Amino acid sequence: MFNKRVKIKDLLATEPKGQEVTVMGWVKGFRQNQFIALNDGSSNNNLQVVVELGTQDEATLKRLTTSASIKVTGELIPSLGKGQKMEVKAKTLEILGDSNAEVYPIQPKKHSLEFLRENAHLRFRTSTFGAVFRVRHTLAFAVHKFFNDKGFVYMHTPIITASDAEGAGEMFRVTTLPADNPPRNEEGGIDYKEDFFGKSTNLTVSGQLEGELGATAFGEIYTFGPTFRAENSNTARHLAEFWMIEPEMAFYDLEDNMDLAEEFIHYIIKYALEHNREDIEFLAQRLAEEEAALPKEKRSEMGLMEKLDFVVNNKFERITYTEAIDILLQSPAYKKKKFQYDVKWGIDMQSEHERYLVEKHFKKPVIVTNYPKDIKSFYMRVNDDGKTVAAMDILAPGIGEIVGGSQREERLDVLIQRMKDMHVPVDELSWYLDTRRYGTVPHAGFGLGFERLILFVTGMTNIRDVIPFPRTPKNAEF
Ligand code: 4AD
Ligand code: MG
Repeated sequence: MFNKRVKIKDLLATEPKGQEVTVMGWVKGFRQNQFIALNDGSSNNNLQVVVELGTQDEATLKRLTTSASIKVTGELIPSLGKGQKMEVKAKTLEILGDSNAEVYPIQPKKHSLEFLRENAHLRFRTSTFGAVFRVRHTLAFAVHKFFNDKGFVYMHTPIITASDAEGAGEMFRVTTLPADNPPRNEEGGIDYKEDFFGKSTNLTVSGQLEGELGATAFGEIYTFGPTFRAENSNTARHLAEFWMIEPEMAFYDLEDNMDLAEEFIHYIIKYALEHNREDIEFLAQRLAEEEAALPKEKRSEMGLMEKLDFVVNNKFERITYTEAIDILLQSPAYKKKKFQYDVKWGIDMQSEHERYLVEKHFKKPVIVTNYPKDIKSFYMRVNDDGKTVAAMDILAPGIGEIVGGSQREERLDVLIQRMKDMHVPVDELSWYLDTRRYGTVPHAGFGLGFERLILFVTGMTNIRDVIPFPRTPKNAEF
């Protein structure tokens, strides 16, 4: 059998008693013609493999270059050297795959994140990205665990759809029609009747509308899948393809919705701290070193571990949109004209405003509720004041909006009126309106941007560095 290997993570947790073990991995470093630092991706920690002088031929030793893959069988013994508890004394050493160190892009030195982004196909092998993507995995697992333990049904909503759930028109078209000469209808427009689905379709921007169909049957569902937005926002917070978690619950009002979102975020961060503390501590150290090079006013007030502990152990602030605008209007930043964009009731807050609230004023995550209806989606429940909707956004320090959600409009007549006012096609969404026609119930839900959460937990600052293969304007490499 080939694969009788022990993972390095498991091995480092055992007692070295001279037992024989087989390990496989990639060479991280080789020094003094004797000491191999071996990594197999199970942990950021390397295993030291000792090749005793004279036991291997020179030709083999020469092939122990960075990122060569090897198989080693030997004795696991307490380490004689400093810096590690144990090491493997190699009995047999086999090179599985050579790596030409002269052209291998990832050299054993510190590379910039930009450089590694260009080499995203190999960046998983670095300590930073190894840690980031193991944390991503832990968080994804925690999402499923949280909802499964609560009895939510995991629902797969379609990737290809004919609807624009958010009504924002930021969709990628899906078509098999020839781009250069599509069939035309009588009015001269593109004839989508000839298209694969017989109508115009796009990649989903959100699974929410289908999620509501699930919630009004199962009671509580969640989705966790890729979503696509053709918004031309070339920022460190936007991706064209990102993963979203969208729970949708019958018999929930806005407050229930906020309570669930807060419990959920606390839970998954706590889960990651408990189940993958090692990688988060490594990233905390990385961030501290990075920030040490910055001028004092640009450094974070708290280290990453401290920040995460603080967030897990404190309640989020809850304010209405109207209160948020008042705080901004009273702020020294506003009075000293430090904001680039104007502040008044009715604006869609810009990230500078959100950051002020979260980072300067409250210094913790903030849930903002009851936004003006004109800046929010058609499905949000209209409040009694007729001006605002039962929306909630969660804003996080360093990130801005991390969650967007609302109580849904369950009154058929009010919903249809809203759709008409906002030019959302009522006929095409007849299937959606059926939930309001047949046993409508108060219900609510939210969407959490998975990559924004990962940014928060890992302390990384660019969203391109927390998804394996980022899709952004003018970039679909790999
Ligand atoms: O606020 P959004 O647009 O809300 C919805 O899509 C609702 N249907 C959710 C719901 O109620 N079920 O998006 C939700 C979250 C945002 O708060 C943000 O975290 C993330 O998705 N997000 C993005 N993340 C990365 N890149 C983008 N371009 C994003 N757009 C939204
Ligand atoms: Mg939003």
